[in-house]
Amino acid sequence: MSLSIVILAAGKGTRMKSATTKVMHKLAGKALVEHVIDTAMQLLPQSLAVVCGNGAEQVQPLLASKQVNSVMQHEQNGTGHAVMQAQDEFADADQVLVLYGDVPLTQLSTLDDLINCGDKNSLRILTTKLADPTGYGRIVRDDASNVICITEQKDADQATLAIKEVNSGIMVLPAQWLTASLSKLENNNAQGEYYLTDMVALAVADGIAINTVCCNDNAEVAGVNTRQQLAELERHYQQLQANKLMAAGVTLADPARLDIRGDVTIGQDVSIDVNVILEGAVKIADNVTIGANCIIKDSTIAAGTEILANSMLDKATVGENVNIGPFARLRPGTVLAAQAKVGNFVETKNANIGVGSKINHLSYIGDTDMGKGVNIGAGTITCNYDGANKHRTVIGDNAFIGSDSQLVAPVTIAEGATIGAGTTLRKDAAAEALTLTKTVQRTVAGWKRPVKKKT
Ligand code: UD1
Ligand code: CA
Repeated sequence: MSLSIVILAAGKGTRMKSATTKVMHKLAGKALVEHVIDTAMQLLPQSLAVVCGNGAEQVQPLLASKQVNSVMQHEQNGTGHAVMQAQDEFADADQVLVLYGDVPLTQLSTLDDLINCGDKNSLRILTTKLADPTGYGRIVRDDASNVICITEQKDADQATLAIKEVNSGIMVLPAQWLTASLSKLENNNAQGEYYLTDMVALAVADGIAINTVCCNDNAEVAGVNTRQQLAELERHYQQLQANKLMAAGVTLADPARLDIRGDVTIGQDVSIDVNVILEGAVKIADNVTIGANCIIKDSTIAAGTEILANSMLDKATVGENVNIGPFARLRPGTVLAAQAKVGNFVETKNANIGVGSKINHLSYIGDTDMGKGVNIGAGTITCNYDGANKHRTVIGDNAFIGSDSQLVAPVTIAEGATIGAGTTLRKDAAAEALTLTKTVQRTVAGWKRPVKKKT
């Protein structure tokens, strides 16, 4: 039974008061419409198209990157009119699922239930019951509880306005019947629009069965119209993520102060302090501790590692039992082997740090291959950039770099080498030897400090 999916996303979103078109606003770091697309794709439809209009040029690059078709609706003449623009997309399908680009949190299981709640020749509507149904289309039923039509707020009389069961907007329709009947829609209503919801009364007239699934979780069918609603849905989504982590054995100092903007995998007995942001693809193994205010993006962290407060990791790979921070910045291409230490005010980039090596304070280590057991003194800088090109610094096992040294790349420090404090190293340093570049200390007896000349 073939399924086509049409996502409506041409609306303006006036109430967002934004130059960004509504469906491109982000929830958990991902555009609203991308949430809908990602869920839709899991249904493995034979075709998937997004109806674009307002801000189409903002939506289309995303669609292209996900290989999703886009259909233009040049004038926004209503939800029925939007579906008309997508007719070619479902010409060969048995049924069509209509989703909204501004309803991001509908679960796959709910859509599955909707698709399977009646045979493919029926019209299926996802509904929900709201204490305050203002603004929504009402599900109107006869005395036998059969759906007879959907009436929009602006077209409803007092009795209809009192109905609490509302249209989520999400519907499954028999495709061939839809194609044949769309042209029967009229726009003689309060908004002068072609309503998709009018297909319900047309279906009843044609003897098409109507089924409904009532979704108990209002957030799953909630649309975003304002920034306040966006913030509410964001919080709801974050709470769900936090609940999942806690159920899987993660300790959260405060589930309301963790933000997940991507896909995370977290092991058991991981402990996360307040105000942590996890972005992109993050993998955290068992027994990792993350301090307050850390931002971890697209990184992998092995078991037993401790990340102290205010550290930032971006595209870093961290081994077991490593110590990071506080105030460490691991930039892309940082690879820390087991038991390494990267302390406060240390920045690393494109750097392989060997087992047990320590960079404890105030350093920049970039484009570096460092062996095991190395000690980097405070204030060490790898000068990796000559103004045009980047060069690598190679540091052998058990080397010791004195504080406040500059390692001018390309340069190699052999195993067991010691570099004296304050060295500016421009040539390779020999193994198991002391290398110094500053003058030997001497004392000038009777030396006087200069005095200011009188004018
Ligand atoms: C619609 C439903 C209403 C339902 C509510 C749920 C109709 C007539 N009404 O009302 O029954 O309770 O959603 O949120 O369907 N869109 C287009 N092109 C258009 C018009 C809209 O693509 O010409 C898109 C919008 O971008 C949006 C969706 O369709 O994603 C819904 O449009 P909107 O104007 O918000 O419909 P509502 O009046 O809220
Ligand atoms: Ca709406």
